[in-house]
Amino acid sequence: MVAEKSSAKNISVTLRVWRQAGPAQPGKFVDYPAKDLNPNMSFLEMLDVINDGLEQKGEEPISFAHDCREGICGTCSLVINGKPHGPNKSIASCQTYMRSFSDGEVIVVEPFRAAPFPIVKDLVTDRSAFDKIQQAGGFISIRTGAACDANATPIPKEVADLAMDAAQCIGCGACVAACKNSSAMLFVSAKVSQLGLLPQGQPERDSRVLNMVATMDSLGFGNCTNQYECSAACPKAVSHDFIARMNRDYITASFRSAFRPKSAAAGDGA
Ligand code: FES
Repeated sequence: MVAEKSSAKNISVTLRVWRQAGPAQPGKFVDYPAKDLNPNMSFLEMLDVINDGLEQKGEEPISFAHDCREGICGTCSLVINGKPHGPNKSIASCQTYMRSFSDGEVIVVEPFRAAPFPIVKDLVTDRSAFDKIQQAGGFISIRTGAACDANATPIPKEVADLAMDAAQCIGCGACVAACKNSSAMLFVSAKVSQLGLLPQGQPERDSRVLNMVATMDSLGFGNCTNQYECSAACPKAVSHDFIARMNRDYITASFRSAFRPKSAAAGDGA
């Protein structure tokens, strides 16, 4: 993470925000002056202040998505000055503070832009396409029963660490917004790898990668052309190495599926 400068002096900025009344309405940028801001307020708190002012004037507040405001849920899908989640590396929009900006700066705020993420209103996009990909294979079907001892299933530390790295993905969609192809391969590869690396994820390992990739393609996400903008924009620094891992899994699963007797295709084994 890039260290932010700390500042005690209040700043004033101009917010240039994408306003769009609905999915089928034309949108445009509208400027809002934001004066005398505490530099230690978060970017979303600054939007709250702007919205308070708009409501007091009887104007429509800016719609933006948020939930946890702690970098956990992946809801705060803002492109700030051309970068998904703003100027700082490895943090979400909600963890961005006004001290990251200069006094007098014009800050351009847009929604994530990708055909599979249609705009709902202003800065809010519909990212339910990610839910559909998850439903296609992002699960395990074994009975988990009562919680067992943490070390009951031995897993090498390096494998456990890698699975945890993949599990960092919060499904925000910044990887899609950053990619010129609107590729979702970083997201899908993180979900595929998170489960495929662990013993519990082996029964559906082949069907998982085949179904999740097929669903990703059917929803209009593009392919990966190795630009790595996805991992650069990821608020959790998920590595693009997982894309290569998913591609290997996909090729293996495709071969196994092609040569497997039809009667055996329903239950995959690794
Ligand atoms: S609001 Fe949850 S990650 Fe930003």
